[in-house]
Amino acid sequence: MAEFERNTTGFTADVEQYDENTLVKVYRDYVPQADIDREILCTEAIQNQGLPVPAYRGAIEYQGKRAILLEYIRGESMNAAMSSGLKEIEEIARDFAAVHYRLHQCRATSLEESKPRYERLLRRSEPQLGSDLMSRCLKLLEKQPDGDRLSHNDYHPGNLIYGPKGLICIDWSDASQGDPLADVARTVQMFDYGPTACSGVPVIPRGKISMDAEMFEQYRKRVQRFTRAYENEYVRLTGMEFAEYERVVEAWKVIVPASRFWTEWDCNKPQILKMMYKYFMTHPV
Ligand SMILES: Nc1ncnc2c1ncn2[C@@H]1O[C@H](COP(=O)(O)OP(=O)(O)O)[C@@H](O)[C@H]1O
Ligand SMILES: [Mg+2]
Repeated sequence: MAEFERNTTGFTADVEQYDENTLVKVYRDYVPQADIDREILCTEAIQNQGLPVPAYRGAIEYQGKRAILLEYIRGESMNAAMSSGLKEIEEIARDFAAVHYRLHQCRATSLEESKPRYERLLRRSEPQLGSDLMSRCLKLLEKQPDGDRLSHNDYHPGNLIYGPKGLICIDWSDASQGDPLADVARTVQMFDYGPTACSGVPVIPRGKISMDAEMFEQYRKRVQRFTRAYENEYVRLTGMEFAEYERVVEAWKVIVPASRFWTEWDCNKPQILKMMYKYFMTHPV
């Protein structure tokens, strides 16, 4: 029996063992070829740069389906480490921030630029966001720095594995190059508006684990502590003052969640809308 338990929880692909040290990520038939091409481009772009990422071993056809081969990182996912309670949540958050900061030290040249990408996603979100909010977000986006730093864009604990050589970041399907603070805002909003944002929702992502309300409340508080500790550590590593960070990240904290309105993202949209209106009241564009 394969050592790696086949993972079928993803929206786009199943992952299973290919050989001793290789996994195969097998795309579902409905996934557009352009999305696969983008994942290949992003995965290739991060190779051989000394980054903590799995080695890419090529695209193949696997049992009649489109697939890619990746180095198998043996270890515990950061998500599992967060649930097990063996390590202090703040310590995990510091690990999480350190890898993110390290990725952001890398200049990227061949990836999609983050600003045009956010423009595209904001326009795509117009039906859910409304034209007025979309235009305000577009104006705000124009004022943001371009940046040239590697941005993962789906940096969450489920995409980090404590491997034998340290913490490794997987799932490079959506990377771009841009202002690293956009990528930080992308991470923070997953926690601040995602399934753990409000009390009384006793289900965590994708309905895989259900908890009673009390357990959920405890988990939610841990996630909040994790998020703030991550931000604090990330900012400490940059050498910025926290107040300065808050001032510059604020715009991204509006733009980024707005750009996700087109998806069936499991989040608290009314809370995001409230936050956006509040922001634009005090920061007219
Ligand atoms: N290189 C790898 N080493 C170990 N496990 C991996 C690796 N790549 C993927 N996985 C496992 O497969 C899961 C899904 O892969 P991922 O690339 O994150 O796809 P998705 O887009 O579905 O999130 C991961 O959460 C992880 O459990
Ligand atoms: Mg993933």
